[in-house]
Amino acid sequence: MNLKQSYTAEDIKAFLVSNLAEVIDVLPSEIDVDENLENYGLDSAQAMIIISKLEQLLGFKPSPILLWHYPSISALSQRLADEFTEDGQVKDAHINTGSSVNIAPPFLDLAAEAVLDPTIQPIGGSTAFVTDPKNIFLTGGTGYLGAFIIKELLAATQANIYCLVRAADVVEGKSKLEKNLQQYALWDEKYSDRLIPIVGDLAQPFLGINSGQFQNLAANIDTIYHSAALLNYVYPYSALKTANVLGTQEVLRLACQTKVKPVHYVSSVAVFESTAYAGQLVKEQDDFNDWQGIFLGYSQTKWVSEKLVKIAGSRGLPISIYRPPLISGDSTTGICNTHDFINLMIKGCLQMGSFPDVDYMLDMSPVDYVSKSVVYLSLQEKSVGKAFHLQHPQPASLKSLVDWVSSFGFSLKMIPYEEWQAELINNVTSQDNPLYTLRPFLLERWSDEQITIPDLYLQARRPIISCEETLEALKGSSIVCPPIDSQLLMTYTSYLVQTGFLSLV
Ligand SMILES: NC(=O)c1ccc[n+]([C@@H]2O[C@H](COP(=O)([O-])OP(=O)(O)OC[C@H]3O[C@@H](n4cnc5c(N)ncnc54)[C@H](OP(=O)(O)O)[C@@H]3O)[C@@H](O)[C@H]2O)c1
Repeated sequence: MNLKQSYTAEDIKAFLVSNLAEVIDVLPSEIDVDENLENYGLDSAQAMIIISKLEQLLGFKPSPILLWHYPSISALSQRLADEFTEDGQVKDAHINTGSSVNIAPPFLDLAAEAVLDPTIQPIGGSTAFVTDPKNIFLTGGTGYLGAFIIKELLAATQANIYCLVRAADVVEGKSKLEKNLQQYALWDEKYSDRLIPIVGDLAQPFLGINSGQFQNLAANIDTIYHSAALLNYVYPYSALKTANVLGTQEVLRLACQTKVKPVHYVSSVAVFESTAYAGQLVKEQDDFNDWQGIFLGYSQTKWVSEKLVKIAGSRGLPISIYRPPLISGDSTTGICNTHDFINLMIKGCLQMGSFPDVDYMLDMSPVDYVSKSVVYLSLQEKSVGKAFHLQHPQPASLKSLVDWVSSFGFSLKMIPYEEWQAELINNVTSQDNPLYTLRPFLLERWSDEQITIPDLYLQARRPIISCEETLEALKGSSIVCPPIDSQLLMTYTSYLVQTGFLSLV
């Protein structure tokens, strides 16, 4: 136990009000201490700034997850004040050792979350398979995978693609779509007229689309691709549910209303993250009823969302499910989403000069393989009702990646995982390192075993995901998953160096 200055809930409240006001650039008088902090639009980086300031004030590291379990300033201040005893000491010896205050997450029964609105029923039973869609509705077109799916759909069909976009108006929506495709070198002016923005929001009832337009889409869309989701490895289920779970429900509502529209849903291999699948072979059509031991809020939402899609399938909606692993860059250009986990991890570890020495297989597939497969499979009638695994048929070990990155001229050593975590706690203390905002994901300890989320991805705890049926279904196409070899890694690294994301020292 060490002696600290004691703070009352009122002290902490005043501190939080002034810091929140500064971070979001409003007057302290505009902050309501009982308002849910989420409503102030705090992103994970801003949340981390506030947590760091609190750390300086309190003298211990409050877990960023606290912000979600005690979501208002009042509740959070009271919880933090409870950490001090009357004589100003910090109660929990554990928190003085440099780790975060551990909070048992509220119990969450994912099976009970997987309930699809009973009014969502396909009208008129099953529909003929759409081989030549004229009008496609797509979500996630301003995202990474969505951009590549758009490119493939534009080439493989003659359809107009109606894209759900969060924007002030259609002009901004179109500009967002165009800029996103340009960013990945996929924009082609000749297709411009076929890309039609639909202003809306996954997190709103009826996708935030006005009723007339929703009806119109319901009557005229032939098929739906649902790729949008809020990808955040820090937020808990409660913060992601509206967009990821309820958003999927709204997509299914659109699919069933007025006429039946097949749904192509981008899920994730994360649906098999339950500890029940550790070491087990899981095949594409296997059911996935186990959810205990899925700790990541994002993965929890993917499990529930896919269940909703399956329920809709059991009610007669034609559905197909695509489960990618981590999605890496384009295999020919190396263009990638530099904000994704793999790239942030590589950049952050290079800054630290060390990588954790863990038995981990790089389950990543190039984005062009994933998008081509989704579009090809979606246009095959026999794909209806099936799930597909798009993970790499021959994943490489993390160690081979690190060896390769080192051979490229980067200075990097592998150190024991515990040591690496200690360096992360002690040395990664500002947003200059991209791992800073991922610290809760990398450090938070869960379950009786007190394991971190990355522990869960260690080879021994993971399922063996078969992609045999998917490869069989892709036979007859020219789609082949590029090997993770020096050529691919050279393509990726060259792109990251050329764009300045990585620099050789
Ligand atoms: N990336 C991976 O490694 C990976 C791995 C497995 C599965 N997946 C799945 O693949 C899909 C695509 O992932 P990604 O990497 O392309 O993600 P991304 O680049 O982050 O794109 C996410 C897309 O979802 C949209 N979105 C998020 N919240 C929304 C909302 N409330 N309303 C409307 N649109 C919203 C985003 O729109 P804004 O531009 O407005 O934010 C963006 O277009 C997701 O379903 C994800 O779960 C991805």
